[in-house]
Amino acid sequence: MPQKIQRVKGVNDILPAEAKQWQALEAVVKKVMDRYAYGEIRPPLFEKTELFARGVGEDTDIVSKEMYTFSDMSKSSLTLRPELTAGVVRSYIQNNLQQISPVQKLWYEGPMFRQERPQKGRYRQFWQVGAEAIGSPNPEQDAEMIALFYAILEELGIAESVTLKINSVGDSESRAQYRSALQDFLRPHLSDLSETSQHRFETNPLRILDSKAPNDKALVQNAPKIRECLNATSAAHYEQVLEMLEAMDIPYVQDDLLVRGLDYYTHTIFEFTSDALGAQDAICGGGRYNDLVKELGGQDVPAIGWASGIERLLLVVDALKPLPAESDLDLFLIVLGDDLRTKAPQLLHEWRNAGLKCDTDSLRRSMKAQMREANRQKARFVAILGEEELAQGVVQLKNFETSEQQPVAFEAVVAAILDNN
Ligand code: HAM
Repeated sequence: MPQKIQRVKGVNDILPAEAKQWQALEAVVKKVMDRYAYGEIRPPLFEKTELFARGVGEDTDIVSKEMYTFSDMSKSSLTLRPELTAGVVRSYIQNNLQQISPVQKLWYEGPMFRQERPQKGRYRQFWQVGAEAIGSPNPEQDAEMIALFYAILEELGIAESVTLKINSVGDSESRAQYRSALQDFLRPHLSDLSETSQHRFETNPLRILDSKAPNDKALVQNAPKIRECLNATSAAHYEQVLEMLEAMDIPYVQDDLLVRGLDYYTHTIFEFTSDALGAQDAICGGGRYNDLVKELGGQDVPAIGWASGIERLLLVVDALKPLPAESDLDLFLIVLGDDLRTKAPQLLHEWRNAGLKCDTDSLRRSMKAQMREANRQKARFVAILGEEELAQGVVQLKNFETSEQQPVAFEAVVAAILDNN
């Protein structure tokens, strides 16, 4: 027998029962995005590798070790998108979106690809929903961005069990100042740092704040805080964002050790975490990225955004407040006798076109087996069609809830079921 082929490590099959949960979540996302006036964008799944190297940063974990990169027939180096901010910015520049409106508010949903070590909540193909607002430098845009994700959490009924952590990495001047303050603090302890952090000491010392190595973690507890190195403009921006969050009653905790794993951030950065998850507890991450549009060849346009892992969101929703299941089948048509095989599809076709959710048995099984299938699909009604019914132009319509059964003319079935909704 030929060997079965297994799916690739770290990717998931989303089967129909689970897909219903995805659709319910997607409906919530779409509704909230509409309310906040964000338009959907669907960029390609792969881009030139250079986009991520320049956009996300050569020295980030994502670019240095996690990308699925390949060459196509023309020997161009292409990469399956590990995130979508760089792709959205590329598209914004290429399509001149700033000409349509000075602030572009965009959202997206789709699969991302990162070659990480798989574990609960961490996959190699995972889905993100995300939003990017390109054009406004002002704190109200930061506040709206955070409120947008918070509104999704509220709609899902899980806002109270999620923590918003926020910090600011300031503008480039503030960051340069903090970088040297942090290096000065760490320098005497350099040999005690983990190997990765020793490397980052030169390349990106802020990431040391995020280290998981116990020694590094203990050390950075006493490190100078970036908040204390913000220049006046950066500090004022950050303060105003916090004030606006308070005015909207969105709870937050300031996390001095919060830094993000992508290089493009400036000013406000944030993460939403949940206790309902294991080690991979971030359900959303984002921040301002005022320099990225310019760095990717566009004009000097500020921006802010976030992305949330859908699998992780659903793990939290599942653990805390499962989404209401979609309604089940309206009607299951039980067909008895081979002479009716042409009438059955015709009836189903009409009923489905009228908006009923219908199914039937295409295996020509016994009445008992068909009834079992109707039960499995939780049909609200079954319609039984035999020789006698065909002759009279009726089906025996049985309401599964009340067990009532009566003959109903073919053309009256839709109304009979809709009346019962
Ligand atoms: P990120 O923090 O890399 O940010 O990812 C955002 C979210 O995607 C995470 O908080 C997590 O929920 C989910 N996620 C990331 N990696 C995985 C994985 N391997 N498996 C499952 N879920 C995962 C970004 O991607 C930025 N583009 C966010 C952003 C948008 N910043 C500004 N605009």
